[in-house]
Amino acid sequence: MTDRYAVIGNPIEQSKSPLIHTAFAQVTGQDLAYTKVLSPLDEFGQTVDAFRAAGGRGMNVTAPFKLDAFAYATDLAPSAQLAGAVNALKFEGDKVFAENFDGVGLVRDVLHNLGFQLQGRRVLVMGAGGATRGALLPILMQGPAELVIVNRTVAKAQELAALAQKSNAAGVSVRGIGYEDLQGESFDVVFNATSASLTAQVPPLPLSVFAPGALAYELAYGKGLTPFLQLAQQAGVTRLADGVGMLAEQAAEAFLWWRGVRPDTRAVIDSLTVPLV
Ligand code: ATR
Repeated sequence: MTDRYAVIGNPIEQSKSPLIHTAFAQVTGQDLAYTKVLSPLDEFGQTVDAFRAAGGRGMNVTAPFKLDAFAYATDLAPSAQLAGAVNALKFEGDKVFAENFDGVGLVRDVLHNLGFQLQGRRVLVMGAGGATRGALLPILMQGPAELVIVNRTVAKAQELAALAQKSNAAGVSVRGIGYEDLQGESFDVVFNATSASLTAQVPPLPLSVFAPGALAYELAYGKGLTPFLQLAQQAGVTRLADGVGMLAEQAAEAFLWWRGVRPDTRAVIDSLTVPLV
């Protein structure tokens, strides 16, 4: 029988997940159907219950339900616990297993698709919201020289840094700072995990923040050369990336978790790539 999966959100029309997972199912020969589920804002639990009752095996979770999914789960993976949010669910009887693959997808994209190592590098993450929370643990596991979180609201960066420091087995130094503290500092990788790009804004980054040979990575995808990537380009950065690879890799992680087979992501990345111009 065809196994059923879906992505749940509100709105949901924009989601690329059905396209990605259907492509993965084709290349791996897996018999599954993957659809979109629009849930009313205050009926996440009922909507998921109905999907499970109809034989659903797993779901991806997108805005605004990542916290609802956290509350709904019976078994939270460490990645979901630190992120405080869930982006994938797996249903087995009464159990609801929950994961957050965004951070591991980001790191896989940087390492395997972009060929850029994080070990021993100075890493800056902009923003202290959900996207940053998901990314911290997978970045730390790579053993960077240091990890700095910069945020408009400095206290949030400091809180997250303290939280990350606690769950950081590698003993990497983690600091939370404000944008004005960036003067005189430079980094090998700068991740933009703020939501500023969605409103075509860019946080006040000094151009000197990019070390020679740096990678500038925009976690949003499909928006071309965002203000952040333009700023990096002005600073002379030639390694520019957006989150299309992260999107494909987090999907591949979920697919592996559900089906036990890892799909190759290259064709999906190529088909979704919007040129950075
Ligand atoms: P997400 O789940 O996408 O991370 P979020 O939790 O709302 O979204 O977090 C958005 C992050 O982007 C926050 O860190 C926010 O900064 P504040 O904590 O100070 O609110 C940051 N952000 C959004 N717009 C920004 C802007 N114009 N300049 C700087 N930071 C911005």
